[in-house]
Amino acid sequence: MEFENIFNEQVKKIKPSGIRKFFDLANTMEGVISLGVGEPDFDTPWNVREAAIYSIEKGKTFYTANAGLLELRQEICKYQKRRFNLDYIAESECLVTVGGSEAIDLAFRSLINPGEEVILLSPNYVAYTPGVELAGGVVKNILLSDENDFKLTPELLKEAINDRTKAILLNFPSNPTGGVMTREDYEKIVPILKESGIMVISDEIYAELSYDHEFCSIASFDEIKDQIILISGFSKAYAMTGWRLGYVLAHKKVISMMKKIHQYVIMCSPTAAQYAAVEALRNCDLEVEKMRESYMLRRNYITKAFNDLGLKTFLPQGAFYIFPNIKSTGLTSDEFCEQLLAAKKVACVPGSAFGEAGEGYIRVSYAYSIEQIKEAVSRIKEFLEERE
Ligand SMILES: Cc1ncc(COP(=O)(O)O)c(C=O)c1O
Repeated sequence: MEFENIFNEQVKKIKPSGIRKFFDLANTMEGVISLGVGEPDFDTPWNVREAAIYSIEKGKTFYTANAGLLELRQEICKYQKRRFNLDYIAESECLVTVGGSEAIDLAFRSLINPGEEVILLSPNYVAYTPGVELAGGVVKNILLSDENDFKLTPELLKEAINDRTKAILLNFPSNPTGGVMTREDYEKIVPILKESGIMVISDEIYAELSYDHEFCSIASFDEIKDQIILISGFSKAYAMTGWRLGYVLAHKKVISMMKKIHQYVIMCSPTAAQYAAVEALRNCDLEVEKMRESYMLRRNYITKAFNDLGLKTFLPQGAFYIFPNIKSTGLTSDEFCEQLLAAKKVACVPGSAFGEAGEGYIRVSYAYSIEQIKEAVSRIKEFLEERE
């Protein structure tokens, strides 16, 4: 069989994730400390697990509505109102998805016509570029750096928009940089977005993990609310990665277009996970706050430790990653991570896995115990000293 000839050209072009490649290697070694994976180290709160178990005991094991349980959509809208003061209608402006991941894919597929451009802020989460390309779009990268705290500035935005631009994807707090946009930062770019009329996909999956500022959603700017596709989910804030549950909030016309794809491809999100999510939204504010505080302490420790090692590290204001600048070592980010893994058995992710602007940085997750973080820091110190 000539397999080369049977596959879709677009799929063939997609490169495997730079994160996976690295961790497949780390998994073959003994005694590795991994600071690589973007996953909370907490268990899902017990009451949430219990709600899922109870739903199964009660025989709630059937499909739900395509858009998700109405009860869950109502809780999502209530939650977004009480937490971020956003107004969405459960019946028509909310769609429950299989993680934020499905929501991102639906957004791209429902918007992009062949050849249209989507602006991404580089470095960015690994799924965005393949998502745009699979949908037939063209990625236009805006390159961010630690010099402006990985923020989007009006100048950079203006320069990137042209008449082929369909949308921009924003992700604040950001994976991999931990950068955020405050209300004042958004105030500078909102008029440009309004004038251009492009769609704004806002991946707010780390909204609850904001440390130094109140989280500001771009959907709170009424003048561009119709342009916003707000994506969020349960994986990060509620430590629910394996439950595969996320959601989209947007204008009803956008939701109905996204729902067309969702209903044929997915049908509905897993039912037990939806019952679990209702409980998470109703009764987990305290748990979420405890996890946030714990990440914040670790963030403070690890950022200082990396700066003390001589690796310039921007203080991330959200999510659970630091993005140290390793340019002073003279190594590429791939070389740095490969040599560190081989010499000291510490696994981090090369910044280049997150796109062009990630070169010269590494991504280090601090969703690990303080003991693991301390051990990793001391091994990195040895690694740097032995190179001198
Ligand atoms: C920025 C960002 N968006 C979306 C996702 C997808 O999350 P999930 O599909 O688990 O909701 C991730 C996961 O790492 C992420 O970092």
